[in-house]
Amino acid sequence: MRIITSITQLRKVLNQVRRKGKTIGFVPTMGYFHEGHLSLMRQAKRDTDLCVVSIYVNPAQFGPQEDFKKYPRDLKRDSSMARKENVDILFVPSDNVIYSEGYLTYIDVEKISQWLCGRFRPGHFKGVATIVAKLLNIVWPDVLYLGQKDAQQVAVLKAMVRDLNFPLKVKVVATKREADGLAMSSRNKYLLSDHRRQAPVLYRALQQARRMVKSGEHSSAKIKAMIQSMIKHQSSGKIQYVACVHTDTLQELKTLEGKILIALAVFFGKTRLIDNVVIRLHARKQHKS
Ligand code: PAF
Repeated sequence: MRIITSITQLRKVLNQVRRKGKTIGFVPTMGYFHEGHLSLMRQAKRDTDLCVVSIYVNPAQFGPQEDFKKYPRDLKRDSSMARKENVDILFVPSDNVIYSEGYLTYIDVEKISQWLCGRFRPGHFKGVATIVAKLLNIVWPDVLYLGQKDAQQVAVLKAMVRDLNFPLKVKVVATKREADGLAMSSRNKYLLSDHRRQAPVLYRALQQARRMVKSGEHSSAKIKAMIQSMIKHQSSGKIQYVACVHTDTLQELKTLEGKILIALAVFFGKTRLIDNVVIRLHARKQHKS
């Protein structure tokens, strides 16, 4: 595995790879790897000839009150984990490589960046879209790998790829979970032990929602009320939002049908956790009498 910090150097290596007709899979990350990241790397290794992983804690996607400074960083640990997954190139740019002095250009994917998490994290998805566009222009991958846990990030980046004609495929990989159902996240390490014990209620509530929807409950209000009540009764988590929306357009659904995303954000102490499930409900067939 090569660790590369310069854009010029990375482009030189990747141009040679492309000239040989090889395909490139790209996994953008902010490091502090867990099984979720590793599953993206494994998928990229399976699908493409060369797997590039970037590690960059992007200041532009953190709000002034957020955890940019204390976001966990451990390059030694990350590089040894990536090496074990046979990652070909680890791209680790520094701040001045990514945002040079006088930097002016940002990407705003309208509307869908403002909803759900966007309501509470103004500017977050502008930061995400900007850094991912920059990384895509540097790496030029054939396939971009994203995790389903960040469902809104997936919707925003898919819209950006479509609208700005990035010549690549986006592949979304299922959320990796701890044995008790908690979605893996670099932020789980902030959880106090009591909160860590309670946090799996989020996935239990989402699974219960899936069962209810599958067995015929299509009222978004009832599903949301059930999730809120489970979280309130079974934990000390403070709900930021619970939403039922269309998976791609993120439009709110009153009646659940089609591609449904049920997503939530809940605080346990100071730690904000997000999770979601996607449910596909086929339109009911009209029976002729
Ligand atoms: O999901 C993340 O870790 C980040 O938002 C990403 C996509 C690497 C952009 O900084």
